[in-house]
Amino acid sequence: MIKLAPSILSADFCTLASEVEEVHAAGADWLHVDVMDGEFVPNISIGIPVVKNLRKHTDMFLDVHLMITKPRRYVGQFCDAGADLVTIHLEADEPQNIIEALEDIRAHGKKAGLSIKPRTPGSALLPYLEYLDLVLIMTVEPGFGGQSFMRDMLNKLRGVRALIDQYRPGCEVEVDGGIDASTAPLVVDSGASVLVAGSAVFGKADRAAAIEELRMASDVKA
Ligand code: DX5
Ligand code: ZN
Repeated sequence: MIKLAPSILSADFCTLASEVEEVHAAGADWLHVDVMDGEFVPNISIGIPVVKNLRKHTDMFLDVHLMITKPRRYVGQFCDAGADLVTIHLEADEPQNIIEALEDIRAHGKKAGLSIKPRTPGSALLPYLEYLDLVLIMTVEPGFGGQSFMRDMLNKLRGVRALIDQYRPGCEVEVDGGIDASTAPLVVDSGASVLVAGSAVFGKADRAAAIEELRMASDVKA
């Protein structure tokens, strides 16, 4: 079963609690929380207090995507704030610090994810697989919602799916960026198991219809 993870980056932050409730009731599986520091990516979004407040208002699975430099400094705080899964970027620090950050997330009893930007090859994930519950393949350059899906990421996705099946079965393969009803069947067919969608859900007036449309479009293997 494919999981749908609406990204609150496209929600109205002043009415966040009710917007989250809306997608929860509509059957969204996870809630994707995009954290940006203005350094790893050229944009600033939200952080630890918002995760803490979300945790008070929802029992949805909180999928926190850290687009921040040297994430080892903060992963523990995001875990304590109520994240269920914390994903960091492979490009955000030296390999040893990335491993320590992943170990720290798991030491907090949470799931650990590692993301790669479009120009990072899938094979770069290999040394980290033993620490991972999820890999996140960016299908746009991270930093902003509403960008166009990069079709040339499909090959990489297929390669990563093959790596995961061979070396880390059970690890989720998530995609993020430009996912909508037209691109969802392509990524599912190429091996994605979790689909992040910002503008295709929170950007729509009728979120329930948007989730239903994505669900139908993701059901290519049924
Ligand atoms: C981009 C973020 C995404 C973003 C996706 O850097 O990581 O999660 O919210 O937005 P859409 O679905 O609009 O491409
Ligand atoms: Zn994201």
